Amino acid sequence: MSEKNIVVIPGDGIGEEITSAAVRILNKIASKSNITLTFEKHLAGGAAIDAYGVPLPDSTIKAAKNADAVLLGAVGGPKWDSVPPEIRAEKAILGLRKELGLYANLRPIKVSEALIEFSPLKAAAISGVDILLVRELNGGIYYGAKNEAAMVNGVEQASDLEIYSAPEVRRIVTLACQAAKLRRNQVVSVDKANVLASSRLWRKVANETAKTFADVSLSHLYVDNCAMQLILAPKQFDVIVTNNLFGDILSDEAAVLTGSIGMLPSASIGDGTGLYEPIHGSAPDIAGLGLANPVGTILSAAMLLRYSLGAEQAANQIEQAVEQVLVEGYRTADLYKHGSTKVTTEEMAGLIEGKL
Ligand code: IPM
Ligand code: MG
Repeated sequence: MSEKNIVVIPGDGIGEEITSAAVRILNKIASKSNITLTFEKHLAGGAAIDAYGVPLPDSTIKAAKNADAVLLGAVGGPKWDSVPPEIRAEKAILGLRKELGLYANLRPIKVSEALIEFSPLKAAAISGVDILLVRELNGGIYYGAKNEAAMVNGVEQASDLEIYSAPEVRRIVTLACQAAKLRRNQVVSVDKANVLASSRLWRKVANETAKTFADVSLSHLYVDNCAMQLILAPKQFDVIVTNNLFGDILSDEAAVLTGSIGMLPSASIGDGTGLYEPIHGSAPDIAGLGLANPVGTILSAAMLLRYSLGAEQAANQIEQAVEQVLVEGYRTADLYKHGSTKVTTEEMAGLIEGKL
């Protein structure tokens, strides 16, 4: 395999610690296989606001576009909460998603048998859950026209537009159906078609699209019902496909079913370079203390190998290594309970590295 260039964007808060941990794992796996990786660090989020006055410098965009994949930690923090909306740290993520054409966000929700006791659900309800949440990432209310708060006829008001085109729905539902074919052939499309026009278009196009996949069965749930079903009976789900905003909300809900949001990876893919990041935030309150759980980022690195470098075997090895370390009872602070062995961020990375 030729040399692959990975752009690493640590971001803010715990970003530095968790991306270092993942790079360490990537280096180890590369040394064990015929993959050559080079890493280039770039700034985004609050760190970039401090250095350049903008959350997403052109140099970072350019490097990301030219890279084979991007590994991101997390951005934002209270330090930058009061900056003007157009340079908020979150703009870094939204800008990267747009610039790289990342229209699909894959969030696998899988429960490690070793961590079942940490789930807020009863063991019988959660054991065996294996969901792939496919979130549309380049459209909807996140990118629709915004009117910041202003006086209109003497009343202060603000608005955000939820807008979807048929091709945008088609490409994300197609991707969800393709993913389902490699799993259990079931797609649940989530919308609010009883109220929203954009959801009625979504549902119509989803039906048309799924018809072209003979083996895949498509059903629909309203988002409020889906939120409830995820708690009541999460095992019913295989692939869930939904819009940008509903996907943001449902993926946090689904994530915590597994016990800790610190465990979950994500892949954002589309037209250009893929971007990989844990689904949790920058946790500024614990930054630099060795308390952060690096597993979400390490599993994101596994997804990077799988989706951007075609290195399925290497990805599987990382996932197995993580599971082994958990089974042996090693835990970062977020998952520590009496009887297990508490380890720091770096120690966790070292243990996983040792299994490779
Ligand atoms: C996520 C995050 C982002 C989002 C924020 C940081 C803009 O919550 O990736 O889920 O809302 O998409
Ligand atoms: Mg979110």
